[in-house]
Amino acid sequence: MINLNRRRTLALAVGGTALATQLPAVLRAAERQAALRYPLRLSANENPWGPGPAARLALAAAIDDSCRYPMESSARLLAAIAAKENLSADNVAIGSGSAELLNVLATGWCARKRLVSAWPTFNQIHTMAASVGADIVHVPVDAALRHDLPALDAAVNGNTGIVYVCNPNNPTGTVVPAAALRDFCKSIGERALVVIDEAYLDFADPAATGSMVELVRSGANVVVLRTFSKLHGLAGLRVGYALARPDLIKKIRGPHLAIPNGAGLAAALASLGDQPFMQTTRETLLADRARITSACQALAIECTPSQGNFLFMKTGLSLEEFRNRMRAERIEVGRPFEPLLDWCRVTVGTTAETTAFITALQKIKETRA
Ligand SMILES: Cc1ncc(COP(=O)(O)O)c(C=O)c1O
Repeated sequence: MINLNRRRTLALAVGGTALATQLPAVLRAAERQAALRYPLRLSANENPWGPGPAARLALAAAIDDSCRYPMESSARLLAAIAAKENLSADNVAIGSGSAELLNVLATGWCARKRLVSAWPTFNQIHTMAASVGADIVHVPVDAALRHDLPALDAAVNGNTGIVYVCNPNNPTGTVVPAAALRDFCKSIGERALVVIDEAYLDFADPAATGSMVELVRSGANVVVLRTFSKLHGLAGLRVGYALARPDLIKKIRGPHLAIPNGAGLAAALASLGDQPFMQTTRETLLADRARITSACQALAIECTPSQGNFLFMKTGLSLEEFRNRMRAERIEVGRPFEPLLDWCRVTVGTTAETTAFITALQKIKETRA
């Protein structure tokens, strides 16, 4: 249902006659995105269904405020996130994407210290930590491509700044069960800061894993990271956030965090309340993820039980060859994740994109057989 005040705000934003043509376009966005636009981008774990209707309306309305610094929008989003998580505003820091927060964590906690993480994993924090002289320890995932918690624990020494856990893990899609992760965080937290990256948690089965935000509530030495780039479909607007104890948030906010952009803050705030968009998007992406899993099974392609909006598959070709073959079908798939160079990460796109990917996968497999 469209809120009439929002309609009016949008009318002011786009001007009287433009409204007639602009408004339906805004609201038919998902429909338009069902059309295939080549090359298909299944390489960056974005959500092609976004932004949702509420975020689109908020973005249009934010045009007028773009001449202002976004202090009020920032405070509003902080308050909304805090209320949703049963925390207070001083438990929340907003960043230009969670990537900026990972950079700030690396510089604040890892300079000339040790960074411990699973490998392969999302490597933003590693890149920045390396630039400030960190000793980076990669702990290989186990045979099922899951985090090896005892090995991660054993890698922590007296000079460890951060233990980074991406849950679900990018690129493997595997998760650590909530109870085991909670115990791990409590134990490691006495020796180092634990950063739990929950960028993809919205796509996970709640029976398989869960958020570590309750540890923030109980004052543990833990930072939980979230982003509006995935389920909310706002990757281009660069809004992410950290949840942690007030003393940790104070240090994260420190002198290096940029002021996020106002349009992004407005869209994020609106999206946070857009339950129908989140639910439909999640259901659609999970159904298409299941279709890709079934196609892999039918083609005897090994594929992890991914809990993210992407899949990690062993295609039977080197990644380089598989990427080239997919490029010939005008489909872009994921980058290399060392040392698993015969595996490929594929992002779940729209339903039409998923069908196109499965067709291409079948063709590649058949022409190889
Ligand atoms: C695990 C993980 N964390 C964080 C990010 C960064 O997201 P953003 O900076 O868009 O919030 C990504 C991006 O793909 C990711 O995969």
